[in-house]
Amino acid sequence: MQTHSGMFVLPAGISRGKPVCRTSVQCGNCKEVPISWRSCRTVLSPLHRLAPRAHVRHARWATSSYRHRFTRLLSSAATPQRRVGFVGGAGNMGSAIIRGIVGSGFTAPHLVHVSGRDRAKLERLAADTAVQITTDNAEMLSQVDVLFLCVKPAQIESLLHQLFGTRPPSLLIVSVAAGASFACLERWIQDASATANEPRLIRCMPNVPLQVGCGATGLSRGRFATDADLAWTQALFESIGTVALVDEPLLDAVVAVAGSATAFMFQFLEALSDAGVREGLPRPTARALAVQAMRGAARMAQAEPQAHLAELRNRVESPGGTTIAGTLALEAADFRAAVQAAAAASAAKSRALRSAFEERLMGKE
Ligand SMILES: NC(=O)c1ccc[n+]([C@@H]2O[C@H](COP(=O)([O-])OP(=O)(O)OC[C@H]3O[C@@H](n4cnc5c(N)ncnc54)[C@H](OP(=O)(O)O)[C@@H]3O)[C@@H](O)[C@H]2O)c1
Repeated sequence: MQTHSGMFVLPAGISRGKPVCRTSVQCGNCKEVPISWRSCRTVLSPLHRLAPRAHVRHARWATSSYRHRFTRLLSSAATPQRRVGFVGGAGNMGSAIIRGIVGSGFTAPHLVHVSGRDRAKLERLAADTAVQITTDNAEMLSQVDVLFLCVKPAQIESLLHQLFGTRPPSLLIVSVAAGASFACLERWIQDASATANEPRLIRCMPNVPLQVGCGATGLSRGRFATDADLAWTQALFESIGTVALVDEPLLDAVVAVAGSATAFMFQFLEALSDAGVREGLPRPTARALAVQAMRGAARMAQAEPQAHLAELRNRVESPGGTTIAGTLALEAADFRAAVQAAAAASAAKSRALRSAFEERLMGKE
């Protein structure tokens, strides 16, 4: 644990070395600004490779999420390295995962192979992350042990035919596509390749904040995926956020509460920033305060998982005070119902997508 005097105790098994992070920043005690995850990435990466010399002068190991990331990095170091391929990896979700796992140190960039159709997008990704890129899906496929399917759900069937028409899949396949169920994926792969009887599949439902190490991902295991496959995929997503293992039907709920919810949070922040501007704050100030308020509330809720969220809210609502006036106004405007409706609409859309695929599949039989 870091103390105010600059001393800290590294977790068991890690020896102390020379401080390498000289970012001029602050800890919670001495009122300096905590270093950011990005700035300490260079420090933590060597830890990932089990060269525990590096450390950070001002990181708040004991109280902050850095400690959790640190622990994750160490556990991921013990996870066997697999060569990872991303088809459609230059898109929004693919590139978010790639930036996340390279940034967290979960995998080295030379082990990440990305294919896509747009050369310029791929080159931008390679410039930022140093991953291997190609516009040839088959070339990428020939180099990897795990394949992430990061294309739109409607593009998956034809893509699988193209990928596995000539080469049966002996690798782990992780699909991020909303709605494309195990039943559909298995069937498409078996249609594409007569020898692919038991494809090892995992479905995941991640969200975009994983690109800044703060994702929330639902994982579901296909019937032929091994324990090692699941453990490796879980470790990958835990290196960039939180993971919930769920049965496949609950992935629709994950879409609502984590995937789409990212946009709901931005919508709330936008509305709150506008409100700040209406009350006279300059827009950048209103935005910064609103963002920090959301972050602070989220961190408090994480720090006290046993406390009911209503209890946390009640602590802010002093009798006859400003907050209770505001929260009652939210109730009067049906805030709770609006949030529920938004989440239900997202989950319903995800279910509808799945049903449409499955109906098409049954129509073929
Ligand atoms: N965005 C999210 O927040 C989110 C959350 C959870 C899950 N997902 C899932 O993630 C998947 C991708 O979504 P997205 O938002 O990242 O879409 P996107 O930005 O459109 O990315 C898809 C990428 O796939 C590429 N692509 C399409 N067909 C290809 C092919 N045959 N070979 C190689 N590359 C191909 C596209 O290239 P072009 O640019 O040339 O079309 C594009 O770069 C979807 O299945 C979605 O359900 C997304």
